[in-house]
Amino acid sequence: MTVKQAILPAAGLGTRFLPATKATPKEMLPLIDRPLIQYAVEEALSCGIEEFIIITGKHKRAIEDHFDSVCELEEKFRASGKEYLIEEINRFNQIKFAYIRQRVALGLGHAVLCAKPFVRGEAFAVILSDDVMDSENHLLKEMIEVYEEKKCPVVAVEEVPWTEVHRYGIIDGVLEGGVYRISGMVEKPHPESSPSNMAIIGRYILTPDIFEILERQEAGKGGEIQLTDALMKLARTKDIYGYLIKGKRYDAGDKLGYLKATVDLALKNREVSKDFEKYLVEKARSLEHASAQNSMGF
Ligand code: UTP
Repeated sequence: MTVKQAILPAAGLGTRFLPATKATPKEMLPLIDRPLIQYAVEEALSCGIEEFIIITGKHKRAIEDHFDSVCELEEKFRASGKEYLIEEINRFNQIKFAYIRQRVALGLGHAVLCAKPFVRGEAFAVILSDDVMDSENHLLKEMIEVYEEKKCPVVAVEEVPWTEVHRYGIIDGVLEGGVYRISGMVEKPHPESSPSNMAIIGRYILTPDIFEILERQEAGKGGEIQLTDALMKLARTKDIYGYLIKGKRYDAGDKLGYLKATVDLALKNREVSKDFEKYLVEKARSLEHASAQNSMGF
């Protein structure tokens, strides 16, 4: 596949998860036993992406440490005959990571622009690690295939309830052979003025010409330099496509989305799924019982 680099913006403030994210990066919140950003890296690796440019900020050092080797652990596992765990913690040793600090969280568009010096003149992926994909979801791979066919930027889109359009970048466009040809985009619109309920979610395949636009992009919604605004400008000079997600996505940057992801992933986890399912069934029964008692006025 032709897309070999991925930018992972991870410098956001994570205000929806405060106070947990005061000193700990949101991207390091665990789902079962892996932090969110590891899921993103594994997804990209499975699509043939080889290099990762992570945009970090203050209080984000734990991300660099996570993908580094840990001699103390290696020694401990070797001494206790648990070599299989060494393999697990060293899985990323051969992968290329570059870390760039976004000094001030000026917005997603600005975070992507920070990666410019490291991007070669080829298409690259942008992955927001708080959007977690179900393991059976091959969204990124399918988006790269669309890029290879069209040689134009591709953004992932998902149909969201109209009451939620104000939380997303929303596209306007027509379906052409299974993908949307985008004619307009608007960041966090009011439901009444929104062109559709097709929301841009955290996977993009972009081309380097976005950087020239981002360099001149002024702050938009929320006072932030928005990637959606820059993409809208790019759409005036070249086609941009919207690829409709087929599987399940979790907004793990949001408390409820995070909980749903935890439950669904735990139910698929070899180590805990059986006992966890048992616990959930018992819990559901006791909740049902309590709600029946309530409705009878006890
Ligand atoms: P979000 O919109 O989720 O913002 O950013 P956030 O700050 O991370 O979280 P909340 O909304 O305050 O809870 C989307 C992605 O863009 C990155 C974030 O790290 C996240 O991956 N981002 C955002 C940056 O890297 N820099 C920024 O200035 C803004």
